Amino acid sequence: MPEEFDLVILGGGPGGYAAALYGASAGLNIAMVEELRVGGTCLHRGCIPAKELLQTAEVIRTVRGAAEFGVNTAEPTLALTTTQSRKQAVVDRLTSGLESLLKGRKVTVVPGTGMIRPDARTLLVSDGQEIRGANVLIATGSAPRALSLDSLAFDGTRVLSSDDVLLLDETPARVAVIGGGAIGCEFASLLADIGSEVTILEALPQILTGVDQQVAQTVVRAFQKRGIKTVTSAGVTGFDGSAVRYETAKGEEQLPVDKVVVSVGRRPRSEDIGLDAAGVKVDERGFVTVDGNMRTNVDGVYAVGDVVATPQLAHVAFSEAIVTIKTILGENPQPLDYDKVPWGIYCHPEVAFCGLTEAQAKERGYDVETSVHRWGGIGRALIIGETDGMVKIVSERNGPMLGVHIAGPWATELIAEAYLSVNWEATPDDVGLLIHAHPTLSELFGESALALTGRSLHG
Ligand code: NAI
Repeated sequence: MPEEFDLVILGGGPGGYAAALYGASAGLNIAMVEELRVGGTCLHRGCIPAKELLQTAEVIRTVRGAAEFGVNTAEPTLALTTTQSRKQAVVDRLTSGLESLLKGRKVTVVPGTGMIRPDARTLLVSDGQEIRGANVLIATGSAPRALSLDSLAFDGTRVLSSDDVLLLDETPARVAVIGGGAIGCEFASLLADIGSEVTILEALPQILTGVDQQVAQTVVRAFQKRGIKTVTSAGVTGFDGSAVRYETAKGEEQLPVDKVVVSVGRRPRSEDIGLDAAGVKVDERGFVTVDGNMRTNVDGVYAVGDVVATPQLAHVAFSEAIVTIKTILGENPQPLDYDKVPWGIYCHPEVAFCGLTEAQAKERGYDVETSVHRWGGIGRALIIGETDGMVKIVSERNGPMLGVHIAGPWATELIAEAYLSVNWEATPDDVGLLIHAHPTLSELFGESALALTGRSLHG
């Protein structure tokens, strides 16, 4: 008779390992099946390696701009092998840390590929062992979505997925990035900084769909200044190995390139894990269907992270894991408010936001007021030489803030205060009177809020 755990988890990425750590800290006996090293896409093929490489891009930009500060250097050159080893060292250190944490909390990590047995309580592992749980959590994550055109199938050399870009050992001369979402914009920014000539081909009329329009336009303009070309409403039709063909309203175009990066979204990894036989429902795109407490339609079976149709962000998976554990413990947690989740996109300039865009707030019938303030008047922004972008607050007139949208320096860090304000349903009066240390970048959020009170200092 196999040992019975309180919870067995399929997949050791942010969703799975957060459930394991949080559940173990609440006293549950947990086993987690993972086919690679623990950490998932975020740690091995996503957030961490991507942001680490983007830090290299930032260092290059800083060195290139050093003369403006009177610091004279030669034109920097890039040793990509050193860059890659540093990236790997960061990933390895975090992975070992995570392994130790799991060990310390006595989580049983089972190496191998698992699938759910039809009883929906047992995981069958590739080595033949069976692990039984009173509850099961599906946290198998996602994989890069491929285009349906044969000539643009991933081949790891000329047609690259995000996984491949993170392993580049030389700078490609000319790159087409197909898809101008979060991944596309981060990679376009990275590749431009390390010396590639980059063109983004986006199917929709705007890149960064879902991002406030003013913010997205700021990114397009900043990209343009840095030589990144953006073609929107582009229908890609094929690749002959040396040029990408695409159509716009003006007709068919050919774009000569050395490599193509395909970043058109990520698909859930819900196939081949036994969901059908166990009776677990997935939607028409393959995402596991869950309620606000992360329960699937099968009693005792939960799903979190990229395999469910919620924002594909590691921090969302963390929160969904906590909701799952609290639900298992009978604590009746509040479902997450996905509208208010913070997003961070690490291109240059950085983008971060939470809550509703101006357009969404209007669509939902709010009487909307906005406050847009730019970095040019902020001492710290001038000091660091980063003045592209703005803070935009979307507020209900005489009511709480509904959303905050930031483009510019350290936006991904500055969003924390905005997130707190939007989730606390703070009004501009509440926030505008709080003290923001001077000189800091955070002052721009304070100024933007204060301006909504009808009075202001600088703005
Ligand atoms: P995405 O869904 O954000 O963007 C994909 C883009 O590709 C969209 O703009 C879409 O219109 C476009 N597209 C789709 N088919 C196309 C075609 N045939 N030709 C041209 N354009 C096409 O997906 P992305 O950027 O691949 O990222 C996947 C997920 O990963 C995101 O939804 C996000 O949740 C997560 N992510 C988040 C990051 C962050 O927050 N910093 C960074 C990277 C990924």
